[in-house]
Amino acid sequence: MSEFSIPYCYETHYTEDVFAPANDVLWRALQGVGAAPVRVFFVVEEELLQFYPGLPAAIAGYCRAHADVVRLAAAPLLQAGGEHCKDIAVSLRLCEAFLAARLCRQSCVVIVGGGALLDVAGFAAAIFHRGLRQLRIPTTALSQCDSGVGVKNGVNFLGKKNLLGCFAPPLAVINDAAFLRTLPVAMVSAAAAEAVKVAMIKDREFFAWLTAQAPAIMAGDLAALSALVRRSAEIHERHIATNGDPFEYGSARPLDFGHWSAHKLEMLSEQRLSHGVAVGMGMLIDCRYAVLKGILAIDAYASLRTLLRSFALPFAGAVLELRDDAGRRLVMAGLEEFREHLGGQLHITLPTAIGAKVEVTAIDDARMNEAMDLVLRDE
Ligand SMILES: NC(=O)c1ccc[n+]([C@@H]2O[C@H](COP(=O)([O-])OP(=O)(O)OC[C@H]3O[C@@H](n4cnc5c(N)ncnc54)[C@H](O)[C@@H]3O)[C@@H](O)[C@H]2O)c1
Ligand SMILES: [Zn+2]
Repeated sequence: MSEFSIPYCYETHYTEDVFAPANDVLWRALQGVGAAPVRVFFVVEEELLQFYPGLPAAIAGYCRAHADVVRLAAAPLLQAGGEHCKDIAVSLRLCEAFLAARLCRQSCVVIVGGGALLDVAGFAAAIFHRGLRQLRIPTTALSQCDSGVGVKNGVNFLGKKNLLGCFAPPLAVINDAAFLRTLPVAMVSAAAAEAVKVAMIKDREFFAWLTAQAPAIMAGDLAALSALVRRSAEIHERHIATNGDPFEYGSARPLDFGHWSAHKLEMLSEQRLSHGVAVGMGMLIDCRYAVLKGILAIDAYASLRTLLRSFALPFAGAVLELRDDAGRRLVMAGLEEFREHLGGQLHITLPTAIGAKVEVTAIDDARMNEAMDLVLRDE
């Protein structure tokens, strides 16, 4: 018998202008990885250059300024981001670049970009030489408050979201508030969807705070957006660290509240629906279902609907009306896919009040359809 355990410990740092030479967060996070200076490979989201044309030069300048700790293994690699980059071919191309730069298990991959790039490049780092350290610098509010602080990587495959991937806790995460300045408002909404998600199932006070702050956040108040990011990230991290199942061997997955239909809706819309909008829709559907089942008060559902609207998260109903020849909503197949993805018994998280939840192991198809009809009719 072999028995061993490995403690994981990683920190999320909050800073501004991470690549300013005087900023000590990055080099301190890299200190102690192998022999100094640690060889670092940057994967940078190409689209960021529209907003930050000096980014590769700033990265190179930062590494020169801290040459005793950090050495660039190659020039920063620019990779197009967004959902389409979550492709195994992109992960493999990144692995080729890691090989060309002679990265070894003492090297570190630093990923600068949105959630999609973090997923695909994190996966590449996790499989290359059986796993390199990865440090994440998420640049969207959603990835700063949700995906970037978690332990999952992955790519879409055979038309299924995140079919290939792995659990790989990062070395560290650096949330740089300066990146939030250039986000289009739709991406602020997307982050708000994930924040509302954790508030709805775990934190009534945060839900009230979001309700109060939504107008300021949507009007571009960066301090309020940073506060949303931080609080949401902390709830996600606390969940991963304390729920006893960071690598999701069990079937329950509360952080996926609203996601069984969201993932399916994203795929059915051929990625026209953003993840955030789809999650907003998924939460409304599941909450309306919970009301029909008598486990959630209609007022809580109405509060959720109001909050999602104040974050400009629309209910894009058309995709919900895609049906098969027998008239069954295509989105319903998402339930079985979700069960398959988790394995074992179906587990769906439903709120029982704002800030409280229950896990159910069966969904009544007819009632779920009725819930969708009601949401579509705004009832
Ligand atoms: N691994 C996980 O646990 C997990 C959890 C939730 C979501 N995700 C994944 O995250 C992805 C969504 O991530 P996302 O919402 O960050 O979007 P994204 O990565 O798809 O990026 C969207 C767009 O934002 C742009 N962008 C990035 N930073 C910017 C900035 N600072 N200013 C302006 N534009 C910027 C990008 O160029 C891109 O076009 C999905 O693939 C989802 O499945 C993963
Ligand atoms: Zn999500």
